[in-house]
Amino acid sequence: MNWNFTEIRANARTEILGASDLKELEAVRIKYLGSKGLLKEVYASFATIAPEQKAAVGKDANDFKVEFTEAFDRKRKELEEKESSLKAPEVDVTLPGVAPFIGRPHLLTQVIDEICRTFEGLGFAVHEGPEIETEFNNFSALNIPVDHPSRDAFDTFYLKAKDPDNKERNLLLRSHTSPGQIRIMQRFKPPLAVVIPGKVYRPDAVDASHSFMFHQIEGLLVDKRVRFSDLKGLLTEFCKRFFGEDIDMRFRPHFFPFTEPSAEVDIRWEHGRKEWLEILGCGMVHPKVFEAVGYPKGAYTGLAFGMGIERIAMLKYGIRDIRTFFENDVRFLEQF
Ligand code: PHE
Repeated sequence: MNWNFTEIRANARTEILGASDLKELEAVRIKYLGSKGLLKEVYASFATIAPEQKAAVGKDANDFKVEFTEAFDRKRKELEEKESSLKAPEVDVTLPGVAPFIGRPHLLTQVIDEICRTFEGLGFAVHEGPEIETEFNNFSALNIPVDHPSRDAFDTFYLKAKDPDNKERNLLLRSHTSPGQIRIMQRFKPPLAVVIPGKVYRPDAVDASHSFMFHQIEGLLVDKRVRFSDLKGLLTEFCKRFFGEDIDMRFRPHFFPFTEPSAEVDIRWEHGRKEWLEILGCGMVHPKVFEAVGYPKGAYTGLAFGMGIERIAMLKYGIRDIRTFFENDVRFLEQF
């Protein structure tokens, strides 16, 4: 018998490489190395092979076996890896699960987002300004001169660092978000409509309704003919969208150096007795403010407002003490 090992090797090789799973691969092994396989036939044929050929056939058969085993092992490894990666990990679905702890935005962040979304719905853009400010932006540009008595109400924490634009003056922590108005007007020409949320600082003694740090949202709308009725309409619409259609609100005359005329808005809230609670200050942008940012005289009118976020959150969610926002007690935070 004449064995063509070149052909046998080529066929075996193709069949090994072509096996698409371990079962098919095992069938190839049985075909060549099994107890009734080709190699057994080769050995059986020794009886009929000419003695001088036996050594050559024996060598070919052994080489074949070595080569086959090598290719087979390599392929088996590959298929095993493939099949184990396809198999789903073993899970005992009857075991109790491990629920991941999912955090959430702080209530104040939620309220800030909601107020910003409401103003975005009314055509406003959202901007932010720095908490460290210059005296110019926090006071002078807002028509609050150094010796003005209303400066006391806004007085604040000063830094050791000097204002790079005015070496005589120290930088400070902003006492309201109104310096954001100055920054926006210095950067952009009207028409503009922005809200500016952020932290503000005042050296107030801490009690149920005061904190040395709290949050405000500033609003500013400047164009050619903005009127006080626009201010009233805008803030009325905001309160209805935010607190609900039947909210009870009132505009009360007030004074701010950077608006003229000025007003405060109160919301009626019920907690046993009915009471008016102030939520924001507002007014028509003072011409001195336009002058400070370099807008041409008489070219524009504008409205501005600044609301206290904690006050609004306390009203909407019935929270009695401003300090609960900052104690970070999860039993409080988890409720929202
Ligand atoms: N900045 C004022 C405050 O902190 C609020 C305000 C803003 C009033 C804009 C009028 C216009 O009380």
